[in-house]
Amino acid sequence: MSINQSQPLETFASSPNKITILFGSETGTAEEFAFDLGTAVQSSDYLCEVTDFDDYQSAKLVDESLVIVVTSTYGNGEAPYNAEEMYNWLETQEPDLSSVRFVVCALGDTGYPAFAQAGKDFDRLLEENGAARVLPRFEVDACFDESIAPFIELVQGWLMEHGQSYKKATTITAG
Ligand SMILES: Cc1cc2nc3c(=O)[nH]c(=O)nc-3n(C[C@H](O)[C@H](O)[C@H](O)COP(=O)(O)O)c2cc1C
Repeated sequence: MSINQSQPLETFASSPNKITILFGSETGTAEEFAFDLGTAVQSSDYLCEVTDFDDYQSAKLVDESLVIVVTSTYGNGEAPYNAEEMYNWLETQEPDLSSVRFVVCALGDTGYPAFAQAGKDFDRLLEENGAARVLPRFEVDACFDESIAPFIELVQGWLMEHGQSYKKATTITAG
C-alpha cells in the first residue's frame, strides 16, 4: 500500500493550551504592549489570545492555563478602570486559581509614589489566590519610553523551555 503524499503522519499538540494576555489600559500604552507581546508569541506558533479586561468574564480565569497581565496604574496607585472589575473580583471572591500560571507586566511612571502599583497588586492577588508565578513581575516606566522588548524576550525564553503544551499543532506529512 502506498502512502498518500498529503496524509498526515504525525500531529503534535493537537489540542494545545491557550495563553491568555489580559490588558488594563486607559490611554493605550499597556494595550499596545499587550498586542506587541501577543504578536510575538503568536508568530512563534503558540496559541495566544489578547483580551481587554473589560471584555473578559472574571470567572473564566479559573479555567485558564497561562495568564499574562499587562496593566498600567491610575489614580493614586489604582487599577485602570477597565481592570477594576477583575481587581475587585480577585480581592473579594477569592477564586481557586491553583491550576493557573501567570506573569505580570506592570506599567507606570516612577514620578508617582505608588509606582506600577496596579501591576504589583495583580501580581499579589493572583498569587494569594493560588496561581503559580512563572516569571518575576516585570516593571516598565512607560513615561521614560521604556520598551516591552525585554519582557517579550523573557516570556519567549520561558515558553521555549516550558511552553511546549501551548504550541499549535505541527503536522508532518509524507513526501
Ligand atoms: C491621572 C494619572 C494618574 C496616574 N497614576 C499613576 C500611579 O499612581 N502610579 C504609576 O506608576 N503611574 C501612574 N500614572 C502613569 C500611567 O500608569 C502611565 O502613563 C501608563 O503608561 C499609562 O498606560 P496606559 O496608556 O496603558 O493607560 C498615572 C497617569 C495619569 C494620567
